Order: sequence, then C-alpha cells, then structure tokens
Amino acid sequence: MSHIESVLHENRSFPPSSEFTAQANVSGIAAYQALTTKAATDYEGYWADLARQHISWETPFTRILDETNAPFYRWFDDGYLNVSYNCIDRHLPAKADKTALIFEADDGLVTRISYQQLHDRVCAFANALIAQGVTKGDRVVIYMPMSAEAVIAMQACARIGAIHSVVFGGFSAKSLHERIVDAQAKLVITADAGMRGGRATSLKSAVDEALTLGGTECISRVIVYQRTGQEVNWHESRDLWWHDSVADMPNTCEPARMNAEDPLFILYTSGSTGTPKGVQHSSAGYLLGAIVTMNMVFDAKADTDVFWCTADVGWITGHTYVTYGPLAMGMTQVIFEGVPTYPDAGRFWKMIQDHRVTTFYTAPTAIRSLIKLGGELPRQYDLSSLRLLGSVGEPINPEAWMWYHQEVGQSRCPIVDTWWQTETGSNMIAPLPGAVATKPGSCTLPIPGIIADVVDEHGASLPFGQGGYLVITRPFPSLLRTLWNNPERYKKSYFPEELGGKVYLAGDSAQRDTDGYYWIMGRIDDVLNVSGHRLGTMEIESALVSHPLVAEAAIVGKPHDIKGEAIVAFVVLKGERPQGAAAKEISDTLRNWVGQEIGAIAKPDEIRFGDNLPKTRSGKIMRRLLRALAKGETITQDVSTLENPAILDQLK
Ligand code: WTA
Repeated sequence: MSHIESVLHENRSFPPSSEFTAQANVSGIAAYQALTTKAATDYEGYWADLARQHISWETPFTRILDETNAPFYRWFDDGYLNVSYNCIDRHLPAKADKTALIFEADDGLVTRISYQQLHDRVCAFANALIAQGVTKGDRVVIYMPMSAEAVIAMQACARIGAIHSVVFGGFSAKSLHERIVDAQAKLVITADAGMRGGRATSLKSAVDEALTLGGTECISRVIVYQRTGQEVNWHESRDLWWHDSVADMPNTCEPARMNAEDPLFILYTSGSTGTPKGVQHSSAGYLLGAIVTMNMVFDAKADTDVFWCTADVGWITGHTYVTYGPLAMGMTQVIFEGVPTYPDAGRFWKMIQDHRVTTFYTAPTAIRSLIKLGGELPRQYDLSSLRLLGSVGEPINPEAWMWYHQEVGQSRCPIVDTWWQTETGSNMIAPLPGAVATKPGSCTLPIPGIIADVVDEHGASLPFGQGGYLVITRPFPSLLRTLWNNPERYKKSYFPEELGGKVYLAGDSAQRDTDGYYWIMGRIDDVLNVSGHRLGTMEIESALVSHPLVAEAAIVGKPHDIKGEAIVAFVVLKGERPQGAAAKEISDTLRNWVGQEIGAIAKPDEIRFGDNLPKTRSGKIMRRLLRALAKGETITQDVSTLENPAILDQLK
C-alpha cells in the first residue's frame, strides 16, 4: 500500500496530570493495561461484566456473543431492557429534581428540564405516538432543529420500541424523501422552523414538499413542534401540532419490553455509491457502547459534571453523546440550538462560562473557524469549570489541537481526540484521559475491548510506521447490526471477502507510530469529510447530473483551512462551455441545485467547466488528476494513458 503515506511527524506528548489521574475513572496506564488484558484474555466476559454493571435489565441475559451467522453478530440476545428506562426512569429515585437538560436557544433564552420533567414529557409524547397508531418496530422520521423536543421525540420512540430515523435539519426535501421512502416510515416529527444565527429556516415546508413526491403513502401523520410560530401550510387530515398531540396525554407510559437486539434506530450516512446507507443499531449493545465510553473516555462524573457535546442530533455524535450517553449516566447536559459564531465568535466560551461546563466535545472544523474569528476570545471568559475537552469527526491538525489545549483548556484539560463512525455507534480509538498520554493529531489507542489493527489489502497486519486499512478484528457490542433493507450491502461494504469476511473494514486509512498510536489519514473510499460531515462524491455527482444542463460531473475534495475538505466540481455541460459571467451564473444555479437536491452542506465550493473530463482510453475519469488540478498543482504525473491530455489546461 505504497500510496498511503503520511506526512505527519508530531512528537509532542502530553501525559495526564497527576491531579487528573488521581480522580479518573480509569486511573493510570496500568489500569488501562489491566482492562485491555482482561478484554484480550476473556473478551466476552469483559463485555458481559460491563453490560451487567451498567445496564438495568428487565430480564438479564445469559448469552453473550453469538457469531454463528457472522457478520450478523448478536449480543446479549436473550436479555430484555428498555433504553429510555435506562436513560430516565432509573435515575428518578435519587435524581428526580436534578437538571437533565439545559437548553440554550439561539437568542440566549435558557430552559432547564429536570429528570422528572423529562420523564413526564417523554411519556406524554410516547402516549401521543401510541395514540397515532405507532407501535413497536414502526419507523418514525425525526426532522427537527436542535431542541429539547428532538431529544424527547427520540426518547419517546425508544420508550415504545419505535425505530427512529433522524434526518439532519440541513438536508433538503429530496434527501428527506429518499430516507422516508427507504425506511417506509409511518410518521414524521418536525418543527415549523429552526432558529440559527438569528435566522429562521423552515423545516415543515420541506416535509410538505417531500410528501408530495412518490412512495410516501406510508406516512399517515406529521407532528409539528411550534418553534417560531411562523406561517405554515396545513393539511388538516395529516398534520397535528405537537402541543395538541400531548394535550390530553398522561405523563406516565410503561416502557416497552425490548429485546437486546431489537433495533433502536436507523441513521442514514454516505457511502461510496449513490444512495445513503441506513445504518441500523441495536438496543443493548449500542447503549452499552455509549455508557462505557462516557465512563472511560469522558471520565463521566454523574453528580458534578456538566457535559456539553455541540453536535446536532441529526448526526451519530448527537445520538450517542446528546440523546443517549449523558442521560444514561444521569448527568446534566447542555443543548444548544444555535451556531458558534452568533452573536459573535465568543458564544461557545460564554456558554461554557455561564453553565459551568466541565466537559466540552466539539469538532475540529468549529475549532478552526473560531481560531480564525477570534483566537484570543476564550481569554475573555471564565473557563475554569472545564476539566476535559473532546474532538470528533475528522483528524484535528496539530496547530488547532495546541490552540484548543492552551487557549480553551488552559493547558490543564486533557483532550480526547475520538475516532469512530456512524457505524461503530460509540468511540473506538481515543485516549482514556487519566491514563493515556496524548499527542496532537493522534486519536492514540483503542479503548479497552476494541481490537483494532492496520492491515494490507489481504488482511495481513502491518508493522508500526506503515500505512494501511484500519480494521476492527472482533465484533463489539455497539457495532451496527446491518444496513436497513440491505444486508448484502452491509456484508460487502464492511466485511469484504478479501479480508476474510469477518473483519470490520472502517473505510479509513491509518498508520501507527512506534508507540502504537493511531494516526488517521483519511477515507479510502469516495467519501469526503466536509466540516466533519460525510458526503459521498457519487451523491453530489448524481445531483449535478440530474440538472438538465449538465452532461457529466466529477467531484473531488481539496484541502481547506476550516472545513478540512472543500468540494470541487468539474462539470461538462450539454451545450457550450460557459465562460466569464455566464460561467458564474451557471455555477450559482448548479450550487443551488445541489443545495436543493441534497442540502446546503453539499454545495460545491468551486465549479470548473470543461468540454470534457480527463479520461483514460477506456473512458474512466482520472480522479487523481482532477484532485491535483483542484489543488492547483502542476501535473507531473504520467498522462500518457489520457485520451484527451489537452483538457487539463482547460480545467486548471
Ligand atoms: C472521520 C462521526 C480522524 C473518519 C463520529 C470516519 C475522524 C468518519 C475522527 C466517520 C477522528 C471521525 N480523527 N477522523 N477523531 N472521527 N473521523 O460516520 O474518516 O459522521 O470514518 O461519524 O469521520 O464519520 P461519521
């Protein structure tokens, strides 16, 4: 795998302070090693002990891991539980009045919800869902802004055993439609609009549009949470206000008895082919991953921490570290509706100060944009409550890491750089902050119980220092169970025959340094990581080609200071190649088109028009040349196999 090369040479190392180690849930490197040794010698026993210790079971399991139908693994599959019970009810005897959610709205208005209130509201909404005919196993699409109601909706689904499928509010009507149809959902929960950065963006109108498209007869009801009070179109026979739906509902609702392996949710994510994949997670295994990592990686202290994960619930990070993890721990957490730059780039730091946040988890792209807009701003706030920082979604560059460490963490707080994926459900490779020394830009070592490796294309383990495919060689509880409606694609995408059919292929390349620390190098498939969001190049290409003017399109990524990767589109129109003002105009049209087809996050940053694309004689688009062109590099590669070398000049 000679083409996988890393340019990183980072030698700084930050051992945990003795103060942090002294209070840590996993204290010292020996404790970390003891856990990994236990997992290595008694893998199933290790996970079973954790599952008994951390989950409240309605019926305890006696079976641990079933591999008979690999790679369709099953965990604890004669056990029964309810995830919502584990997140709410079990805390009530001791913590009914403890704050569960501190919701801060875009305009700064703060609402606090106690565990008892959360219980009552989740139950009332669960009863509302039941009243609308939702039963165990039904799919419910949630298309909501960041809000307490989004969390309540998800928890209510979990309570009655409905499978939620959250669609990020930034996705377009078309994307929403695609997901509703694939999941054959019964009901959509949405809001009139969301507020971000002082502006309202409507959501209900996108639902209306999605439901005019074919294949959505499955939807019998749309429940609408009123956030802004703006005007919405109303379909009497279909639409129902959230406040009306709960008006007469009792605030108790018996949690459904769920099998450990019953699906908790589906979450669509991008893969290397056109259609998004419905990643399906289990109930018990997923919950266990959330709890174990809250404990080990976030060093959770239920009674004293104020946890804040800035991710939207539309992404996996918002599922595991907003909706499920912190609540399962019985913690207080902050939920934020808005954006980090409104009213100014000090918003995050002000919120940390105001809510006395102890644990702050965000994405490198946010960190980079805040450095740019006000690197000195954190100093204007009292950040003394912080004790731990986290990073997720993409590799964090060492400069951003150092700034985060010094300016936000005041050189006091460990940084947990957490590598994981929608498919893995919870953190996989990340430092245990009281045990493992950190290095800027490395996600360090696998958490105990996660058996990772870096292998070549035949599945052979590679020595330290050599780049290859990142794999996880043993099934773990929070691993996805399948792709919704598509078990074949699940097998093909994640357990390829070339690697023996039983090893989980993550889709990232990585290398280990001489200390065995993992350094993630990037995706091995046609997936871009733009501001920490996964986007398939094929999805964007299909969107472009569906525009009547476009004959052909190729998408590549190019490095971007803040977003990590920017999207560059090479486009061939059916007519003449546009130039000057015409090119600008068509660019704008196409960017907006992609915005409508997929969502604003997928709009190309740059569009270049050509009479053709660089192709081999067999007609294959040479993407590596396009990548070089996008970066503005001079082409030094061999272009002799190119059908049309002259095109390169045009696309520069
Ligand atoms: C990337 C987000 C480097 C990686 C939780 C992975 C990271 C993809 C990190 C999953 C990290 C995530 N360091 N790269 N700490 N975390 N990635 O499914 O390429 O939205 O495969 O899950 O993000 O993105 P997803």
